[in-house]
Amino acid sequence: MIKKVSVSDLRPQMYIHDLNCSWMSHPFMSNRFMLESERDIEKIIGCGITHVHIDTSLGLDVSEEPGADAAEQARNNKPADVNISLKRSEPKQVPIEEELVRAKKIYEEASTLVNATLQDCRLGKQVELEKLEPVVLDISESILRNPDAIVSLLRIKQADSYTFQHSVAVGTLLISFCRSLKNRSSIEQIGIGGFLHDIGKMKVPEQILNKPGKLDEQEFELMKQHVNYGREIVETIAGISTISLSIVAEHHERYDGSGYPLGLKGDEISLYGQMTSIVDVYDAMTSTRVYHAASEPTEVIKILLDSRGHQFNDKLVQYFIRTVGIYPIGSLVKLESGFLAVVIDQHHEDLLHPRVRIIFNIQTRSYIFPKDFDLSKSNGSHRIVSFENPARWGINPIRYMRL
Ligand SMILES: [Fe+2]
Repeated sequence: MIKKVSVSDLRPQMYIHDLNCSWMSHPFMSNRFMLESERDIEKIIGCGITHVHIDTSLGLDVSEEPGADAAEQARNNKPADVNISLKRSEPKQVPIEEELVRAKKIYEEASTLVNATLQDCRLGKQVELEKLEPVVLDISESILRNPDAIVSLLRIKQADSYTFQHSVAVGTLLISFCRSLKNRSSIEQIGIGGFLHDIGKMKVPEQILNKPGKLDEQEFELMKQHVNYGREIVETIAGISTISLSIVAEHHERYDGSGYPLGLKGDEISLYGQMTSIVDVYDAMTSTRVYHAASEPTEVIKILLDSRGHQFNDKLVQYFIRTVGIYPIGSLVKLESGFLAVVIDQHHEDLLHPRVRIIFNIQTRSYIFPKDFDLSKSNGSHRIVSFENPARWGINPIRYMRL
């Protein structure tokens, strides 16, 4: 039962259902969480909040003493996401060239694992969380060693087997997004949520899932059901966290209330749901599908910028762009000097001036011996003037990333 209570009645092991304020106004990662200690209550009071809503089905009630039964109930319902930190020591930062080879192996392992998980689900088998957790940590460590290496590999996708590749990409981008938000405590749960966010599609008939054309109204309604199917599947996974669950349940909600399945609005959507909606759209639009060609990351960034404050949370869009960069690695750009170049690395403190590999002379329409150039150190002679569509030039930028 949801109950409004005064903050003076709060005790550890109560489950906060709503803090009744924007998540930007409090220090917690979600509006919904288990009160772990008196310190959590002090933080709520410190924000000037006078009343909150608690969920008595997930934690203690006001009248309940924290006796054995109640404490046991709270423990059983306790989201596994609270304060779980990375279990390995922090790795040292390395250049992208050094991390790419290792990142490729991790990405391939993640792909194999997520593909097997989704296939198992199609066959009605239980998802085993323990299998997914180590690969989330591997990805997280790769991002710590170099924030761009594994993210740049997400651009390499085949048009078939879209759902699992998209699931790996969303998980990876969410981990990276989390890192750039300096949120370290929930990375495992967020990565798992990303991997499983579309698991409900395994219950959608394949002819609809892979239809090479626009879905009609009835088919689209069926497709939308994947969110409810996903929530039902994920709820049965032993040890699943509320964070992972909210990612699955809320990734198609939109900030302005125009999403589905519940039409939640603004901060009714958890921070994780809001983050995933941005990441999901970014990856879907930058991927080739049976019914549309991939858009360039920069075009999608522009769409996200235009949609901020409407479909997407304004601040989160800005943070996400900082995560992927204005010129994502693997983009093809035109330089003022008359050359085409592939972005091969970026400076997170100077997103406008990435490191590029110059490959093509536009005037002579001929390839040149690739030459690397750091635009942050140039005198402006190689300024980026535009993004170029690689298909227009018949260039595959991935080839120039030297994997
Ligand atoms: Fe989805």
